Amino acid sequence: VCGFLSAPLMNVSAANSDTNTITKYSLKFNSNNYTEETATVDGKTITYRAYEKIVYVKNPVDTKYEIMNIYVPEEYYDGTSIGSYNVDTAPIFFPNTVGGYMPAEPGSPGLDERSGEPNAALVALSKGYVVAEPGARGRTTQNESGEYTGKAPAAIVDLKAAVRYLRYNDKIMPGDAEKIISNGTSAGGALSALLGATGNSKDYDSYLKKLGAANERDDIFAVSSYAAITDLDHADMAYEWLFNGINDYKKLVISSDTDYHIQREMVEGTLTEDQIQVSNELSALFPNYVNSLKLTDSNGTPLTLNKNGNGTFKEYVKSFVMDSAQKALDSGTDLSSLTWITIKGGKVTDLDFDQYIQYVGRMKTPSAFDGLDLTNAENELFGTSTTKAQHFTQYGLENSTVSSTLADASVIKMLNPLYYIGTKGTTTSSYWRIRQGTVDNDTSLAVPTLLSAKLENSGFNVDFSMPWDQSHGGDYDLDELFDWTDSIVA
Ligand code: DHB
Repeated sequence: VCGFLSAPLMNVSAANSDTNTITKYSLKFNSNNYTEETATVDGKTITYRAYEKIVYVKNPVDTKYEIMNIYVPEEYYDGTSIGSYNVDTAPIFFPNTVGGYMPAEPGSPGLDERSGEPNAALVALSKGYVVAEPGARGRTTQNESGEYTGKAPAAIVDLKAAVRYLRYNDKIMPGDAEKIISNGTSAGGALSALLGATGNSKDYDSYLKKLGAANERDDIFAVSSYAAITDLDHADMAYEWLFNGINDYKKLVISSDTDYHIQREMVEGTLTEDQIQVSNELSALFPNYVNSLKLTDSNGTPLTLNKNGNGTFKEYVKSFVMDSAQKALDSGTDLSSLTWITIKGGKVTDLDFDQYIQYVGRMKTPSAFDGLDLTNAENELFGTSTTKAQHFTQYGLENSTVSSTLADASVIKMLNPLYYIGTKGTTTSSYWRIRQGTVDNDTSLAVPTLLSAKLENSGFNVDFSMPWDQSHGGDYDLDELFDWTDSIVA
């Protein structure tokens, strides 16, 4: 009956012999279904077992994406420890490869395409982590009838289902499913944060049930999140708060080829009168939002903005940039050409915020995320099975330049970690590492700053910083990342 199945579908437990269509996948991990692989890290050869393309739900919508690759250091099978970890205690590193809210096939250990250095998964394996790499549906995924199958909240539902699979198999699989550490960049960083924020929330249950996800908890131990494109329903106002007055832009246009490889193209321009008006209106909305969150800094000082967008929250954002400049200075970076930084006796004592933002430069045109013509990636994320793109803010809907609809409030909520952190019925991750480069203009610096402050104010352990002169990206500091993961597990 199963003769037609290809290797990726080997964990099928039942097939309908009348129609030859697969009706069910087993949630049970098959310990025997692996290949042995080797790789070199820092001149040392490491050997590991690769369990690939495991369908992690019983009733997948798309077996190209709702699959997971799992990698285990070979040493664990003969009882050897790696550092302080053994077959039972090894944490599970859980990196997603989502970019642009596009569909993502699971990643694998290897060399980073750009740097040529070992990627995060390979470094994790070399340090004794079990690595579980989930794929997930995305905004362009369609079925044979042309219905969209990966619109929000599909990607986060898929990641939760993959976490549940790991818990379901915890006893028979190497690694400790109570020590799952999620990692991601950009849209993937947003999903990593969302996964950590929303553990066990009932809001996602009906979606998980429909997929036949394991009936297990889906909270995770820790989150690593780089350059998170998150808080989407406030990201437009946050962007204009930061970049209002900067009218020249270098815009990134994201598209994809037929294999869903993301293409990025830079287009230069100047805002129109209408766009400047939109920027003014959106930036004026941001202080109310910040003030409504009722956050404080670590000394208990309220983080607020007045109606002109100035106040303690702005100073707070600036303090992270100054800390970053100080760190750069301490490690020998020459900052003397940057006249907007004041340095006295080897200390960064001030920074002209407006000039710093000029230096960063604007990338996106208003509105940056909920595009008024519905052409942004995020508009597509919030489409439905039959609608390509929708608005997800009231401002976007009211100022739409095309015929349009608004996403369901419940779906908008399910994509935003800030609504869930520390709330009743939710198990938010205890440990967070959040990074946003000081010249990343894909989203506002305010976005990760608010996320971090919200987490810290809710009692979670947060390591937040802005790496100096780092643009939009992630996984650029793997030694520090794994020092951090080792420290929280210990
Ligand atoms: C990504 C970048 C963006 O600027 C955006 O709006 C959404 C996603 C990304 O790189 O994943």
